[in-house]
Amino acid sequence: MRKRIVAGNWKMNTDVTAGTQLAAELMTLLAEKPAPDNVGVAIAVPFTHITEVARCIDQKVICLAAQNCSSESAGAYTGEVSATMLKSASVMAVLVGHSERRSYFHEDHPTLARKVDQVLANGMRPVFCFGEVLEEREGGIQNRIVEAQLMESVFHLSETDFSKLILAYEPVWAIGTGKVASPEQAQEMHKYVRDLIAGRYGAAVADGTTILYGGSCKSSNAVEIFSKPDVDGGLIGGASLDAPEFHRIIHSF
Ligand code: PGA
Repeated sequence: MRKRIVAGNWKMNTDVTAGTQLAAELMTLLAEKPAPDNVGVAIAVPFTHITEVARCIDQKVICLAAQNCSSESAGAYTGEVSATMLKSASVMAVLVGHSERRSYFHEDHPTLARKVDQVLANGMRPVFCFGEVLEEREGGIQNRIVEAQLMESVFHLSETDFSKLILAYEPVWAIGTGKVASPEQAQEMHKYVRDLIAGRYGAAVADGTTILYGGSCKSSNAVEIFSKPDVDGGLIGGASLDAPEFHRIIHSF
């Protein structure tokens, strides 16, 4: 059975003290009531928090993730953080292609492909995010948009490398808006993506790929969304900043 995952994306929230406390609180909750069998937990924290958070969590319980990395390996790129640096700071997974990176920081398909390659080359797991904006959904072209996002940034990978990916479908119109995709809409897209993977890498790889849903997911809607056969968990933004709420989402399978 493929792995289920609940991953928190803290975005640009908390300072080092508050973030470390949040991680510690989550560790306590998971010690009292561990994640269900076959459910992995991850938190994607700001760069500044990585070292402190790594000290206060057990990565067998919570996997430490970063929210971004450079598409380049090293050199004169002021302000960038490389995948090698993240690896050396105990990071195990990196978000790539979050819609906020695509829209505010103009990250295009080839840049994201290079970031995915960097993460994999450093022995970490990319959490590759994709999804359509509202006009694309209203225009009925969401499948074509998602297909292009996958084709251009991850379908160049070998089967072995692709198997290390975690995917996250995040319809942009549902992120931070309180407007969650219906469980049926999520299932429909996840099934479509799994079929695309099967076409490219075969049924076994498709069946083993973890595909998360993200966008206004909280404990009040997670049970219904996670019950869909092709939804393998969630990438949680706002609701991951509250440890008891995030813990409830972890227990929504
Ligand atoms: P949200 O964010 O849960 O706050 O909508 C999800 C995400 O952007 O990963």
